[in-house]
Amino acid sequence: MDGPPTIEDFEEVGFNPFTAAKELGGERELTDPFTELARLRAINPVYVGDLKANFGLPTDLTQVEQRQVWILGYKEARQVLLDPVNYSAEAYRSSVGIYFGPRAISIMDDPEHGKVRKVLQHVFGPRAIARWNEKMIPRTIHGLIDQFEGKGAVDLVDAFTLRFPFHFIHELMDLPDEHRDIFHKLAFGQLMITFDEKHGMEAVGKIRDYVTALIAWRRAHPQPHDFITELATTEVQGETLEEEVIISFFRQLMNAGGETSYNGFSNLMVALLTHPEQWALLLTDRSLVPAAIDEALRWEPPVCQALRTPVNPVEIAGVEIRPGDLIGFSLSAINRDPDMIERPDDFDIRRGTRKHAAFSMGSHICIGQHLARIEMAAALNALLDRLPRLRLDPDHPRPEISGFMLRGPEKIRVRFD
Ligand code: HEM
Repeated sequence: MDGPPTIEDFEEVGFNPFTAAKELGGERELTDPFTELARLRAINPVYVGDLKANFGLPTDLTQVEQRQVWILGYKEARQVLLDPVNYSAEAYRSSVGIYFGPRAISIMDDPEHGKVRKVLQHVFGPRAIARWNEKMIPRTIHGLIDQFEGKGAVDLVDAFTLRFPFHFIHELMDLPDEHRDIFHKLAFGQLMITFDEKHGMEAVGKIRDYVTALIAWRRAHPQPHDFITELATTEVQGETLEEEVIISFFRQLMNAGGETSYNGFSNLMVALLTHPEQWALLLTDRSLVPAAIDEALRWEPPVCQALRTPVNPVEIAGVEIRPGDLIGFSLSAINRDPDMIERPDDFDIRRGTRKHAAFSMGSHICIGQHLARIEMAAALNALLDRLPRLRLDPDHPRPEISGFMLRGPEKIRVRFD
């Protein structure tokens, strides 16, 4: 190969996966799943059947084959997620195994999962995050705020929240600038296989080919401090990562690192701007920033599901579950379980608790949680410093968080001066 690989856009000119996800998936209208989830949880913390269908949404195409059982309670979620011996992550094979490839870390069980995770955790460890937090993260965040600071009013999603986590991952992977927008579209489009197989599979194939070629190119042209080279060469207790695992991880990184943090930060901003007294509190007491981030993740988790299947027949809350059944975790329901937290529907940054399941729990707990918290703290502090009078724009509709599997607002129209 003479030059870096090229990337191909969707064949259908003008196809926009960012809006299609909510339009075709029918999830735009689902602004309040919480009332119904609370009703179902009160009947039984384990729901048997297609939870999406219960909300009038189309069945997830990656879940049609299996009997579904959904965990809605915190205690029941701990029982399963903290027991990697009796529950397997194989349940992700028909979804994550297709979006990111059959060698994605999410699908692995121990002992392989533990080995791969150690190597990845090393690369995403505190030293690397501190290094990124020194330069790359602030540069990305302030560079974006510079572009809209003088305007007085913007859609914060379009101008900022959609962009900063993605720009950061883009820089980390050192993608050529001209590939960035198409990569973003395709990376997002991969998740569409849950309701639009044609576009979803097109995105999956194009990202797979691009990432495979990019890694081959980087290996042939290594750069100092190149993240891809670092991943390929890191050794922990004699273990390195095989090529297919690295390729899958990069395919996952763009979604895991971009879409989740973007929705997570958007939800945090909706929470704070619709509770302006709590924005004011943060202005006077910055030590509350980490608590505000965790409270928003609890109140409106951006990633709303995790999956497992039992290794042997089990019974949870009186429901029999067999190997091959899909155990889904409704993280939105679990995070508002009144047995876990008082006043679960209130957003209150003074709680100061990290007790929630937004990053899941146990051995597969989100590997990027420290990075996500640091990125969100840097972004929030930058907005508090530079736009202290940030507020909702009264000339536009109030922002609404919607969705089932991923939740976030489409727009956050704000004013500032
Ligand atoms: C607010 C932001 C984020 C949220 C809410 C989130 C949430 C989650 C959840 C719910 C899981 C599923 C765990 C399970 O199956 O039990 C997960 C796994 C994962 N996340 Fe995140 N995530 C976020 C950001 C990130 C970032 C920034 C990265 C990487 C840069 C990342 C990388 C991963 C990876 C690689 C896994 C698979 C871990 C494993 O299976 O061992 N995530 N995340």
